[in-house]
Amino acid sequence: MTDATQAAVAAPGWHLLSQGASSAAARTDTLFLAMVLLCGGMALLIGGLLLFLCIRYREGSKADRSSPSNDSHPLEIAWTVAPVLVFIGVFWWAAHDWWIERTVPDGAMVVQVVGKQWMWHLQHANGRREINALHVPLGRPVVLTMASQDAIHSFFVPAFRLKQDVVPGRITRFSFTATRLGEFHIFCAEYCGSEHSAMVGTLTVMPPAAFSRWLEAGPHEPGVVQQGFALFRDAGCSGCHGAASTVPAPPLGGLYGSTVRLADGRTLRADDDYLRDAIVLPRKDVVAGYPPVMPSYAGRLDESQLQALIAWMRAGAPSLPDAEDLR
Ligand code: CUA
Repeated sequence: MTDATQAAVAAPGWHLLSQGASSAAARTDTLFLAMVLLCGGMALLIGGLLLFLCIRYREGSKADRSSPSNDSHPLEIAWTVAPVLVFIGVFWWAAHDWWIERTVPDGAMVVQVVGKQWMWHLQHANGRREINALHVPLGRPVVLTMASQDAIHSFFVPAFRLKQDVVPGRITRFSFTATRLGEFHIFCAEYCGSEHSAMVGTLTVMPPAAFSRWLEAGPHEPGVVQQGFALFRDAGCSGCHGAASTVPAPPLGGLYGSTVRLADGRTLRADDDYLRDAIVLPRKDVVAGYPPVMPSYAGRLDESQLQALIAWMRAGAPSLPDAEDLR
């Protein structure tokens, strides 16, 4: 670590929460503080009134009990409507923050995450792999696309206020921008078996130039998109989906992000989850105009291979004639 990084890590002072280090942290902390103040204020108000009324109307006290008011419609309406408005406001606030975190900014750097008992496998777009570690540049949006090989895991970086379940059978995502240099804990936050507590790692935020050097240094495989194209050819997909195929199968170029009409009349957006399902559960959403002849690839491709295929389609399903040389 450089001196500048050290200085940023060793921030002085006492903190109730670990200091935030991502774009989501300030938003989450503000919402959390507002909730604590709201709930704390209500608890104090209710507790205080309870205590006050207990003392005032204790047995034998001389308080005036002559005209108890039993029903007051304005009062009942007020104490019903006011909390409802507050709850809706809090919901709207949280949903707004959630939406920002799920919206992937343009130009975001995609990192694939696969959780398995009991480690985190990560892969950058250029093919560089990491285990129980993630390096990201300062100030650049990053999106994690996450899948699980076995149980439900949860990718948790407390300093980033980032916690996302990693669920078998689907792809979950989370985007963030690191705002502070340093090293931060990664935990698994969902009990996933005997070594769940050992499923930890380190997230390192680096200056952009140092990150570029790090990304290019060290062993890396062909990029993820090239891996996807190689799988498209080697796993048999190209036999039907290739340009020269005579089998009627939907073309894959331009598919990602488009709207797909299905045989049963529904329409779907071709996102990560749709494409994953199309590969492992091909009978679930059959595309209109094509016979349901695709075999399932469940068990034949692992999660990182599925992610590579999807990354290739996300890149527009290009033909990459030199992929063979890169393998
Ligand atoms: Cu993986 Cu807990």
